Amino acid sequence: MTIGPIDKPSIMASPTRDIQLTKDGGIKHFLTIEGLKKERLIEILDTAESFVGVHSQSTKKVPLLRGKTVANLFFENSTRTRTTFELAAKRLSADVLNINLNVSAASKGETLLDTLRNLQAMQCDMFVVRHSASGAAHFIASHVEPHVSIINAGDGQHSHPTQAMLDMFAIRRNKGEFATLKVVIVGDILHSRVARSQIHALNILGAGEVVVVGPKTLLPDNLRELGVTLEHNFDKALKDADVIIGLRLQKERMRTALLSTEDEYFRSYGLTEKRLKLAKPDAIVMHPGPTNRGVEIEASVADGPQSIILEQVTGGIPTRMAIMSIAMGNVEKALMASRTGSQKTNDNAKPATDPTASQE
Ligand code: NCD
Repeated sequence: MTIGPIDKPSIMASPTRDIQLTKDGGIKHFLTIEGLKKERLIEILDTAESFVGVHSQSTKKVPLLRGKTVANLFFENSTRTRTTFELAAKRLSADVLNINLNVSAASKGETLLDTLRNLQAMQCDMFVVRHSASGAAHFIASHVEPHVSIINAGDGQHSHPTQAMLDMFAIRRNKGEFATLKVVIVGDILHSRVARSQIHALNILGAGEVVVVGPKTLLPDNLRELGVTLEHNFDKALKDADVIIGLRLQKERMRTALLSTEDEYFRSYGLTEKRLKLAKPDAIVMHPGPTNRGVEIEASVADGPQSIILEQVTGGIPTRMAIMSIAMGNVEKALMASRTGSQKTNDNAKPATDPTASQE
């Protein structure tokens, strides 16, 4: 799939970001973390915490999305994200549609908007969208009817807000307060929507220090504008680290050679047992997956006692349940208010242009 010009790594403010909020500031679409207030993130983390026990109930369900239909629209591959969204929706008692976009009308040339309008005509209430074009979820959110909520499950190199929130959930559960933490994010920052969303979330939650590490070719200079420290020496960055987040080399997004060899990368930026000793003894190791063992992380570290990689996956379910139930609740509240004429939402925001148009 080609990547259009809008897909250039960008840390610019999203022009349409207000579209995700109701007039009173509640989240009705979850498109980006950028610009959200701290209390909104805390609301998600606290709500996620309240859902943790659901998986150990004999009936693993709460009725918050009963009678609602959630459609998973994944235009890009995914394992963890798609399945945890599906489980989250099912645990909220929603009906779930997994659209196989490889065999659907989209591959027969139907535009994104046509696919969307058809699903809307089937009375779907929520679309979980992953797309290779940055801005795709914003574009969809600017075109749906007021009863529909859009959750961004990753758009190009721009944003992956639910992943960042499940990461914050895992950090808070293991470390408590954010203010004292040194968080080191290492790897292919240039192409990482996860890193961008994590940086916004960590800033909003008031993390003590965020250091991003990688080779010059994978570490855009303009990240400094987000208040993070850039470092090319991984050993140096690891000193006093509380949280280390590894990222995958996103070769599918590299249009030119940005790396010498994987062996060389591992020597400089691989998280090995030896290197991990440079961090605080109780530092936690995280990774959004998929991990490339021997490229960005040593197998014994990925499976070791400091790794919380699988805990991140488990926490993805309550975190996504929280985001979906909060968004659906706010959509309903806004609809009710507009029916009674007491509240207008930001639905009138100018529709974004279609970032996926070149692909259809
Ligand atoms: C990430 C993604 O898709 O952006 N993975 C995920 O959602 N679990 C990171 C990646 O693909 O490397």
